[in-house]
Amino acid sequence: MASGAAKAIEIEGLAKSFGDKEVLRSISLTVPAGESTVLIGPSATGKSVLLKCLLGLIPIDRGSMKYDGEELHGLDADGWNDFQARAGMLFQQNALFDSLRIWENVAFRLLNHEKVPRKEARQRALRRMAEVGLGEEMADLYPVELSGGMQKRVGVARAMIGDPELLILDDPTAGLDPILTNSILSLIERETAGKDTTVLVVTGDMKAARSRFDNVAMLFDGEIKWAGRREDVAHAGDPYLEQMINGRARGPIKMRLAARD
Ligand SMILES: Nc1ncnc2c1ncn2[C@@H]1O[C@H](COP(=O)(O)OP(=O)(O)OP(=O)(O)O)[C@@H](O)[C@H]1O
Ligand SMILES: [Mg+2]
Repeated sequence: MASGAAKAIEIEGLAKSFGDKEVLRSISLTVPAGESTVLIGPSATGKSVLLKCLLGLIPIDRGSMKYDGEELHGLDADGWNDFQARAGMLFQQNALFDSLRIWENVAFRLLNHEKVPRKEARQRALRRMAEVGLGEEMADLYPVELSGGMQKRVGVARAMIGDPELLILDDPTAGLDPILTNSILSLIERETAGKDTTVLVVTGDMKAARSRFDNVAMLFDGEIKWAGRREDVAHAGDPYLEQMINGRARGPIKMRLAARD
């Protein structure tokens, strides 16, 4: 259960380079408590890197990352473990455990963090699986036996089980058909509506980005170029945001496609 009041994420001046490649130059972003925020931006701008920094999986070079007013930058391994136990996460490549059955993957946090008995954990996993359109007949299979879209849904169910107070989802609808995409987005909406869950989602689905989340943040060139409420996107007047959200080929964001010139 989400415990207590909702909690915000506050990022200030975050920088991260890999060797001499600067990916995040100076990220400042507030993810409001108890609301959903979608992070958009061209491919390879650092959206996944930013989520991994936030979860303590990639060490940052400088800057501040606060959750519920507490500084995360500089936490030791135990501190990060405690923080991660409060968050439900979905990675872009799903990162399912190959050697665990589907229900054990979904129930992972119940079995390992909350010490829920296996029988109860399995029942709860089956309920979460049903919400993402995975039947009981999938429960005892292994990830390799599922299609890409099914694996994605296992990842979503795993992130949401145990009602974490913070949900961080990297591309939860990638590779799903439009019907499944809508059901997953509605599921994410239900997690925030009426609950104290703080949600941060990365998506490449601009239709969803325009309509399904409370707040929108646009990452480009190592910075958050624009962040604001969904209803302000249409008249933000920001050329980067405008080009991205409308998927225009022309604009300040130049796509580098191979073998053209
Ligand atoms: N561990 C790493 N070591 C070196 N470079 C990395 C590492 N992780 C990411 N990068 C680089 O950082 C940049 C941003 O990658 P990232 O995966 O965050 O992009 P993204 O915005 O999530 O893109 P997409 O929309 O395609 O998922 C890329 O140029 C990538 O090659
Ligand atoms: Mg990514």
